This record gives sequence, structure tokens and C-alpha cells, in this order.
Amino acid sequence: MDKKVIIDCDPGHDDAMGIILAASGVSNLQIEAITTVAGNVDVEKNTKNALKICDLAGLHDVPVAMGTNRPLIRESLEAAHVHGKSGLDGTGLPEESVKKAADRHAVDVLIEKVMASDGDITLVPIGPLTNVAMAMRKEPRIIPKISEVALMGGGTYGNRTPAAEFNIYADAEAAQIVFASGAPITMFGLDVTHQALAKPDKLEELTVIDNPAAAAVAEMIRFYSGAYKGNFAGAALHDPCPIAYLIDPAIFELKQARVDVETKGEFTYGMTVVDFKGSTGRPPNVRFASRLDQDRFWQLFLDALRSY
Ligand code: BDR
Ligand code: CA
Repeated sequence: MDKKVIIDCDPGHDDAMGIILAASGVSNLQIEAITTVAGNVDVEKNTKNALKICDLAGLHDVPVAMGTNRPLIRESLEAAHVHGKSGLDGTGLPEESVKKAADRHAVDVLIEKVMASDGDITLVPIGPLTNVAMAMRKEPRIIPKISEVALMGGGTYGNRTPAAEFNIYADAEAAQIVFASGAPITMFGLDVTHQALAKPDKLEELTVIDNPAAAAVAEMIRFYSGAYKGNFAGAALHDPCPIAYLIDPAIFELKQARVDVETKGEFTYGMTVVDFKGSTGRPPNVRFASRLDQDRFWQLFLDALRSY
């Protein structure tokens, strides 16, 4: 049976790859909407990029709704040094998309879709959590109706600061609203997404797949690998991880944990404080992805690209 999802994103090379995976022929996901948020770059650019990816992935009927352009409280922060000025540099996609954005705010689309559902919609936030937190504040009745929140963010260490991962650091107050909401959360943080590395051998396998989606992904990985030079043997495919999990949960090992987000620390703002041992005495609120089966992940990802 198809699993209904709303992808809340800031594309972004790895967001784009996540959407392409979700829309592929090997996916069991029914994409109800794509909502955009400020993150890697501003929300207008992220929306433009989401529309271009929809054209590429054949998502002609999926509504794309633009969301918040500012974090709840902190000042804006971008990651153009990772994704380029446009947020999706180096992909060679047409400048203008055929698809147009819906004339609705992302927060309202999130609320309406979840409220109208039978409690069977999974939210997949792969950018800062501003839209999701706003939706939870504006209409708290969505919280018990959310089937699951499968998100990319956080970890036991950071990439934007030593303590904080970008998506959480970019709006830690929003992230804490979501983590404390009571909605069932499955978290794909850096501990696991750094196991999803596109190394040169994978890029080679991908390059022989002859279709426009695979060609665009190869370009994305080439561009995005630049950001990881010196740190890793390849680009980390962060955002495809929660999508891969929803298609094939057996790829991942999950552990129960209590996770809260630091919003006050001078050196630790945006840190996800992960308690596996119950030492805080607070009940677990997260299933924390700790390991990824590399062969199974790559089999899925390459099959997805072959399906276009
Ligand atoms: C996250 O930050 C963004 O730059 C990526 O798209 C991903 O969602 C990784 O820290
Ligand atoms: Ca992202």
C-alpha cells in the first residue's frame, strides 16, 4: 500500500536527490505535497529549485507550496557555501520551471492535508523545522493525526558548529517545538547520514545510467562533493536517508532515545542532546537511526535512478 508523505524541504542538492528517490519507480510513497522553507538559501530560491526538480521527476500533479522565509526567533542563516548561490548550483537544469507553485502557504497546506487525512500522513522534514513547528502551533490538533515525522537533522555531533547540525541550528526553537510535540519522530542525524557517502565508485556506477534524472544526480553529486573535500571520501546523501527508510525500513538500525534541542547554550545552540540510557528520566521521544546497510541503500538508490 502506498504511504502518504509530505516532504518539507530546502532544495539543496541532497533534498533534490531525496525527492527524486521518493518519486521514482521503486518508491511506495504517495507524495501529497512538497512544502518549502528557508534553509540552504532563501525560501523563494528553494521553491524555484523544488519546482525544477518536480519537472525533472515527473511530479506534475503534486502541489508545491512556499513556506516561511525566516526562522521563528533567531536571525536567518544560509548554507550557500555548500549548495551554491542558487541553492542548486551546477546541475544544468533549465532556468525556469514549467511547473508553478501553489497559491497557498506551506503551513496551511500542511495543516489542511493532515487534518483532512485518516491519520496516515508521514511528514518528511529535510530542512529547518520552521514550517512544521508553525503548523503545530497554529493547529495543535494536527499533532495526534501525524502518522510519523521522519526527519533529517541533528546527531550526536554537529556540522555547522561542533555541537549542532545545520537543519537544527538554522531554527533550534522550531526544532525543540517539534521534538517536544509528542508526535512519533524517527530521526536521521549525521551519525547515520555520514554513512551514506557517494564515493567515486558509486558516482561511476551512476554515471552509466542513461536518463536525465540520473544525469542530474551525477552532476549534483559532483558539485556537492566539493563541499566535503578534505573531510570525507564522498558527498553525504543526508536527505535521501528518511526517504530510503520509508521505502525500505530494513536499511536502518533504530534505537530509542530521548532527544531535546539546546536553545540557550553559548557554544551548544542547536545541539540535539541525545539520551540513550534514560539518564535524564525523560521518556523516549525519538527512534534514532544509528546504522545504515550500505549495500541495501545503494541498491535502492541506483535502482531508483534506473527506473526513470
Ligand atoms: C542538512 O543541511 C542541508 O545543507 C542539507 O540539505 C541537509 O538537509 C545536512 O546538515
Ligand atoms: Ca535539506
